[in-house]
Amino acid sequence: MVNYRDILHRLALGGEVTQEQLAELVTLASETRVLDYARGLAREVRTEWYGNRVIVRGLVEISNRCSGGCYYCGLRAENDKVARYELSEEEILDSCRAGYALGLRSFVLQGGERRNVTDSVARVVGLIKDEMPDVAVTLSLGEQSKQTYEQWRGAGADRYLLRHESATPSHYATLHPERMRWEERVECLRVLGNLGYQRGAGFMVGTPGQSVEMLAHEVEFVRELRPEMVGIGPFIPQSDTPFGGMPRGDVATTLMMLAMVRIALPKALMPATTALATTATNGTLIGVLSGSNVVMPNITPLKYRDSYAIYDGKKSSGTESAEGLERLAEELWSIGYEVTLGRGDHPDFVEKQ
Ligand code: 5AD
Repeated sequence: MVNYRDILHRLALGGEVTQEQLAELVTLASETRVLDYARGLAREVRTEWYGNRVIVRGLVEISNRCSGGCYYCGLRAENDKVARYELSEEEILDSCRAGYALGLRSFVLQGGERRNVTDSVARVVGLIKDEMPDVAVTLSLGEQSKQTYEQWRGAGADRYLLRHESATPSHYATLHPERMRWEERVECLRVLGNLGYQRGAGFMVGTPGQSVEMLAHEVEFVRELRPEMVGIGPFIPQSDTPFGGMPRGDVATTLMMLAMVRIALPKALMPATTALATTATNGTLIGVLSGSNVVMPNITPLKYRDSYAIYDGKKSSGTESAEGLERLAEELWSIGYEVTLGRGDHPDFVEKQ
């Protein structure tokens, strides 16, 4: 067996690690001893910056309308089986107010990718910031023009989540229709960085056709891009999509990827994703025990939650929701972690606020 400890420590120190070595580590996710070692080191590395704190962000799914065509996602424009909705400005504000009353100071407004929402989103961000100046607002609304990103930033948005989905252009092309281009997505991430956003990239584990080498390349990609946030979750099929019959991503491999990315980016904000919670028993807890330091309870009005069906069986209640926040906090406490409700900025951005 390769010297996995040595490779992981070099990754932690920012040293030279080859793609072959990273691929070996990914393959060794099935070896409990190796996975446990990687997860242990990931926890150690995250403790340096975050102690035992887990940051909470309230997630508002503002609309499931989408012009995108991602083959894996139930919200793709071509899916006519999903009931489309769009929260009103008042509903978005009320969701944040309710979250604020619970103590949350970080909100994510997430939705499908659409043009023509530039002004309405800018408006609602401004209203949230006026009323609750001490919160951080994260947007996650897909690829947009530089002007749009600029306007949203000007309105007060602090962060932007745009998973790159795959660091391998040829793989990206098999997950998306022609009209979606890897180069454009990566360009968006560059633009977002230049505009002063804290950026979130990310990818799925186990998408159809994804190889171990591609997963190794994911680690190389984030080492280079250095996004402030990284979302990683297993692929889960959604029955009304072209990938509906494909197998799910593997949990052990997902945990290994979480651990490796945490080791590579000690300061990053990394959610224990809903996809992981949906796939694995105690998914949130095992995510946190693999280096995750963020949880994102859903604070969308209840009546809309089932419609945000990006994959089958998506959890939106229990400890994945604001209603379950207290229980989530207790569960995390039982494994030695403490929920915190601040803005949760990336360490490099704390001074800048
Ligand atoms: N399984 C897992 N994750 C998915 N996403 C979209 N569809 C799926 C799926 N079927 C992820 C994508 C997207 C994020 C919002 O959710 O990575 O960027």
